[in-house]
Amino acid sequence: MTLNSHGLFAERVTDVTHYTDRLFRFRVTRPQSLRFRSGEFVMLGLPSEGKPLLRAYSIASPSWDEGLEFFSIKVPGGPLTEKLQNIKPGDEILLRPKTTGTLVHDALTPGKRLFMLSTGTGIAPFVSIMRDPESYNKFGQLILTHTCRTVAELQYGIESVATTKADPLIGELAQSQLLHFASTTREASAHQGRITQLIDDKTFFKSLSLDEFDPAHDRIMLCGSMAMIKDIRAMIEPMGFTEGSNSEPGTFVVERAFVG
Ligand code: A2P
Repeated sequence: MTLNSHGLFAERVTDVTHYTDRLFRFRVTRPQSLRFRSGEFVMLGLPSEGKPLLRAYSIASPSWDEGLEFFSIKVPGGPLTEKLQNIKPGDEILLRPKTTGTLVHDALTPGKRLFMLSTGTGIAPFVSIMRDPESYNKFGQLILTHTCRTVAELQYGIESVATTKADPLIGELAQSQLLHFASTTREASAHQGRITQLIDDKTFFKSLSLDEFDPAHDRIMLCGSMAMIKDIRAMIEPMGFTEGSNSEPGTFVVERAFVG
């Protein structure tokens, strides 16, 4: 696969699903030479007359998938998403060849349970991680949480968990090892409230019959709103969790979800 004059891969959109007026999912062809670790992001954009505007997008598909999947917000007036939300199959998408990120197994020390806490489009890297067989080898249990404003915004996560559990490669592992907890903050649903509040009042642990966080064997990944990340960090650091990076693995890792 060759790079264009800006050093970018030119790929094609294969599939677009709109969930709400704020959220959509799209799939693009994958450059054969693009290698990435589950949980990483890539710089993505649309062709334009001058230098293309690129934004960081977490890859939601696993590394064994022949296509690339992304889950995006639509921001009114957002420099990229205002146009990106109109893409159709066959349209061109540009990708920078290098992927990177901290929501990767390499940035965490070994543990027994992996908690993946997300809000909004922050679920995307975890959709990749929960479809990676390595996740089930490294951890006995994977617990995915997703908090959105409305029930409709939870749909992508619900669908992705169902697809993962039905997958011929990892379905059986996911059925026994993957737990999903979804909550809404601005509409009634089975679990209402911010994840911070539901951790604090123990609703989250009780409803999944889980023991509370313990840095001795739990590992935590955070992705979503800055405010959520800040609040969870303030909650788990005093418990003894320490932030990891690719060069120095720890017991939790963080990435803010792309907005704009
Ligand atoms: P809320 O509706 O109470 O603001 P957004 O759609 O704005 O990106 O937010 C995604 C989700 O993250 C919403 O459900 C929102 O709840 C929640 N959220 C926002 N701030 C925090 C926070 N500080 N801690 C936990 N969740 C938060």
